[in-house]
Amino acid sequence: MGKKIFSGVQPTGNLHLGNYLGAIKNFVALNNDKENQCVFCVVDLHAITVKQDPRELRNNIRKIVAIFVASGIDPKKSIIFKQSTVPAHAEFAWILSCIARMGWLNRMTQFKEKAGKDKEKASVGLYSYPILMAADILLYEASHVPVGEDQKQHLELCRDIAQKFNNDFEVENFLKNPEPLILKEFSRIMSLKDGTKKMSKSEPSDLSRINLTDDKDSIINKIKKAKTDSLPLPSNSRDLEQRPEAKNLLGIYSSLNNSTLDKTIQTFEGKNFSEFKEKLTQVLVEKIDPISKEIKKLMNEKDFLDKIIEEGHEKADNIASKKVKKIHEIIGF
Ligand code: TYM
Repeated sequence: MGKKIFSGVQPTGNLHLGNYLGAIKNFVALNNDKENQCVFCVVDLHAITVKQDPRELRNNIRKIVAIFVASGIDPKKSIIFKQSTVPAHAEFAWILSCIARMGWLNRMTQFKEKAGKDKEKASVGLYSYPILMAADILLYEASHVPVGEDQKQHLELCRDIAQKFNNDFEVENFLKNPEPLILKEFSRIMSLKDGTKKMSKSEPSDLSRINLTDDKDSIINKIKKAKTDSLPLPSNSRDLEQRPEAKNLLGIYSSLNNSTLDKTIQTFEGKNFSEFKEKLTQVLVEKIDPISKEIKKLMNEKDFLDKIIEEGHEKADNIASKKVKKIHEIIGF
């Protein structure tokens, strides 16, 4: 039997190679399996947990849709929609915030990272963010949620919340327990400037990431400037443990080639970085440049993108509002 897939991406800034290799590439594979029912959400309610410029936000929402389509997600086969158009998300998030416990949220490492030193100044939304994420997933009865490694803890919280709701209201299996789908290798792509830090939209230096909208010349330049070490490439994965930059770049190469880290290590054993970087640039340009061109083309087709959002809204709202109706009955509203 096919899987019920749900995942979301925030419309904040540029999507990068980490988003692509950790999540979107997997969305495309799941979309291509005829048995699966996939729902992909542009999570604009999540985006406003930090301040957004309204004009930029509007543009970024369309950009995520363009990225989904340019990467190979078929809007006829999968539902692509905008979170804020389906009111059930915000409503169910409120209900679940009465189920989730403060102690559970206090453990979330992403909040600690994002709030930084001055937690008192973080928005309440940033704190309760994972509850909204749980609402997203549970409304669609997702069996599997494809995400990068950084979302693993949020998925575990989602399962705890579902369990407590079902127990509290004695409705066994009403909220379905989702499984995270995290790629075994390459589920955490690191910065090109520091192999110990995650590749991220919020990192100030653009040289730290490959954006999906980067053209050929920027890709060439960024790989040229990517941090390395002074040793030749190793012959086994054990020797990579102390070499985060080498490990990351070899991982990126493997993932783009749909290969394994071990095979890539065999190919480049004993070679120096300049030779490897040439090959890495080649495969990056080959895979990312066509997507980048397609994104730019689609961004000029606003009506086409808006139509996808509109059609997705209808289908998503239909599923979510039915679930909310049952939730009202269970709670006693
Ligand atoms: P977001 O928008 O930050 O990231 C989108 C997806 O990209 C993955 N990702 C990475 N994977 C590998 N290496 C990296 N360096 C890297 N950076 C980001 C993320 O893990 C994610 O899968 N909370 C989510 C959005 C969300 C969601 C949901 C996801 C909202 N509701 C329901 C799944 C289900 C987020 O902020 O993703």
